[in-house]
Amino acid sequence: MNLFNKTSILFVCLGNICRSPAAEGILKQKVKEQGLNENIFIDSAGIGSWHVGQLPDSRMRRCGKENGYDFSSFARQFTKKDFERFDYIIVMDEDNYADVQSRCPNKSLMSKVHYIREFFDKYKNQSIVPDPYYGDYSDFQFAIDLLEDACQTILNKIIK
Ligand code: 4NP
Repeated sequence: MNLFNKTSILFVCLGNICRSPAAEGILKQKVKEQGLNENIFIDSAGIGSWHVGQLPDSRMRRCGKENGYDFSSFARQFTKKDFERFDYIIVMDEDNYADVQSRCPNKSLMSKVHYIREFFDKYKNQSIVPDPYYGDYSDFQFAIDLLEDACQTILNKIIK
């Protein structure tokens, strides 16, 4: 619980235009469908600053729309202040974990950092959400499939 008396979850990826804004949008929708908006604060951020202020990648927005989601957050960069603001910081891959760790002001705060794979259920053999940025449409769809799986577990285990 944070200062606002809500559980807070931050998704982190490299650019904050593909994977983490999709995770944010999927979880927000699941929370809304359950009428649980009051209980939870959900956000996303990127390790890099290249895309700050931008909407998600148009390919991810389109793929999201075809799966019934609206991905419309604006990219921002992860900062060490996020360790104070968030209860859960959920990363997509090992590089994200190492980059988050390198910005961590106090070792004990790393207990807030989780790999998204901890929440995979249907995709238990998968270790990361692969970056679709240099991929084709099927890579964006696969990222959404993985994130839907993880967000369902997050909804059931953390939020409900
Ligand atoms: P994301 O994908 O980390 O899932 O947002 C990427 C988006 C942009 C870049 C890398 C990854 N980039 O290098 O610009």
